[in-house]
Amino acid sequence: MARKRILLSTRSTVIVLLVIIFLHFTSLSAAESEADVLIKFKDSLKNNGALSNWDNRKPPCNGDHENWVGIFCEEGFVWGLQLQNMGLSGPIDLDSLAKLTHLRTMSFMYNNFDGPLPDLALLTGLKTVYLSHNKFSGEIPPETFAGMAGLKKLHLANNKFSGQIPTSLPDLPKLMELMLDNNEFEGEIPQFPPDRIKRFNVSHNKLVGEIPFAFSNFSASVFDGNADLCGAPLKSCTTPNKLSAGTIVPVSILVAATLVALVVVVVILHRRKQAPQGPEGAAAASASVTAPADKKALLELDKMEQGRAAPAATSRAVTPPSAPPEKTHQSKKSEPNVKITFLKEDRDKFDMSDLLRASAEVLGSGVFGSTYKAALGDGQQMVVKRFKHMNNVNREEFHEHMRRLGRLSHPNLLPIVGFYYRKEEKLLVADFVENGSLAVQLHGNRSRGRPCPNWATRLKIIKGVAKGLLYLCNELPSLTAPNGHLKSSNVLLDRSYNAVLTDYGLVPVVNQEHAQEHMICYKSPEYKQSGRITKKTDVWTLGILILEVLTGRFPSNFLQQGRSNDTDMAAWVESVIKDEASNVEVFDVNMERAKNCESEMMKLLKIGLECCQADIDSRPDIKEALEKIQEVKEEAS
Ligand SMILES: *[C@@H]1O[C@H](CO)[C@@H](O)[C@H](O)[C@H]1NC(C)=O
Ligand SMILES: *[C@@H]1O[C@H](CO)[C@@H](O)[C@H](O)[C@H]1NC(C)=O
Repeated sequence: MARKRILLSTRSTVIVLLVIIFLHFTSLSAAESEADVLIKFKDSLKNNGALSNWDNRKPPCNGDHENWVGIFCEEGFVWGLQLQNMGLSGPIDLDSLAKLTHLRTMSFMYNNFDGPLPDLALLTGLKTVYLSHNKFSGEIPPETFAGMAGLKKLHLANNKFSGQIPTSLPDLPKLMELMLDNNEFEGEIPQFPPDRIKRFNVSHNKLVGEIPFAFSNFSASVFDGNADLCGAPLKSCTTPNKLSAGTIVPVSILVAATLVALVVVVVILHRRKQAPQGPEGAAAASASVTAPADKKALLELDKMEQGRAAPAATSRAVTPPSAPPEKTHQSKKSEPNVKITFLKEDRDKFDMSDLLRASAEVLGSGVFGSTYKAALGDGQQMVVKRFKHMNNVNREEFHEHMRRLGRLSHPNLLPIVGFYYRKEEKLLVADFVENGSLAVQLHGNRSRGRPCPNWATRLKIIKGVAKGLLYLCNELPSLTAPNGHLKSSNVLLDRSYNAVLTDYGLVPVVNQEHAQEHMICYKSPEYKQSGRITKKTDVWTLGILILEVLTGRFPSNFLQQGRSNDTDMAAWVESVIKDEASNVEVFDVNMERAKNCESEMMKLLKIGLECCQADIDSRPDIKEALEKIQEVKEEAS
């Protein structure tokens, strides 16, 4: 009996050991597959529908190429996660992510994560962490960041964090960006070593006390909206502020505004002179209309990214946003007549003095000139666009036309906020739009292996474009082509991917020769045939845009020197859908779609073709086109 019991217990020990060994090996092999780690991570999230292409049929990475949305690969390993604006929530399973040994950058911005900050110290290799615009809350333990010696950028803005700013942050040797604005941090700002932090924002918290010396040369606006901060750049902590706001402030604002206007223009003019030598200038030059489609989109993307400081750009070889341009005073004298005319004066948030500190970054360059971005202190980001070749009308007519455009107001139009007139060139000032241009989203994302807009988003964009066009048509009845320059790089996308048109209504002021060579309405079949554009020319440009959006192909007929055997977009689409035996996929293979939307996609494609008809009489007008487009649904009912 006793013997039997011993035998039994030896046997069970062996079994237990075997089970342990088995479990050990399975967990090891799980640790080895990044796919399994990611899928486990995904399963821990709530509302993970946006990650539907994360599955085991393909590995997440093929070398440097990403097969799954929202990840970045290098040499077969995941080095970045960019899960932004995907409606995600639930816990962030960092225990899983810690097994991704190559992970260096991680963004979960614009989601619905809540609760305390996840334990980032598990991921000691991270260089950049972006968690802004979620619902995280609670205190962050002081030692949270102690082990993260490689951390360069930490963005926690627009959450509900409270308590003290963690004291482990000043000890991080590489930390250069710290964005904590719009939270509920309280107490004093800890001391940081001077010159280490390059970007910083603690506005709209509950901080008190003296601003550490390390931040004394930052813009006062990054301390806005706190309980009781003092010291440079704010008022000194000991001397009470005796200036009478009633007299001194308006005068100084006036002086500052004038100076700012001067400096901005000088900076922009100065940059123009230098542009061709710099790398941006070189890129701009090669991104002219004659560049091959993909190359052009890529170049544009690079420039957009530099401008937007997209998280993905942080660890890749993309150069960081250019240094602030020299705020030179030298040539002020030679610009006697500088005056920016503001068309939207109802904006009380528009504080000119903030432009003084804004660095002008090059966003991109088109056939008219370059586009720059300037960030105002209150968070507004303005875009300044330079136009050469705009001397078709004299100064009075130009002012008059701009006022007319300035009065337009529609959700699908980017308003012109102000302008600057000089004989040789004009500047138009507009708001900055979050998600860049449709062109970059369609063509740039694909070449980078990033997610492209899905069918529902593309349909929404087309509906927005058509509404914007109809509005322009109604409001600018005297213009033959009220838009005149509709193309995917002139369709911007706001935070919710609504279409916002830009560069509209400019045909009358652009030099005729330049317009005929470069503006899209002059690429139409009617212009080619009869040298005239008509009221339906904008409809043709809409048709081409619809085809581009659905096929994901860049319309080569806009390119000045497209390869000679390139077929015209509409003709190509027509030939593909007519040939029933053809197995050429007409729709963009990168466009994610629900199962039963094919017929609706085909409906929109046919509307696009109708709008492209060379015969003007059989082409719908914009109102009819919009009505048809409005009938297209995300899914067949
Ligand atoms: C503050 O000045 C230091 C050098 O004195 C410089 O490195 C740093 O970039 C400046 N910061 C800002 C925001 O201008
Ligand atoms: C700082 O944060 C506030 C609030 O989010 C924002 O409005 C402002 O533009 C930011 N300033 C800078 C310089 O980033």
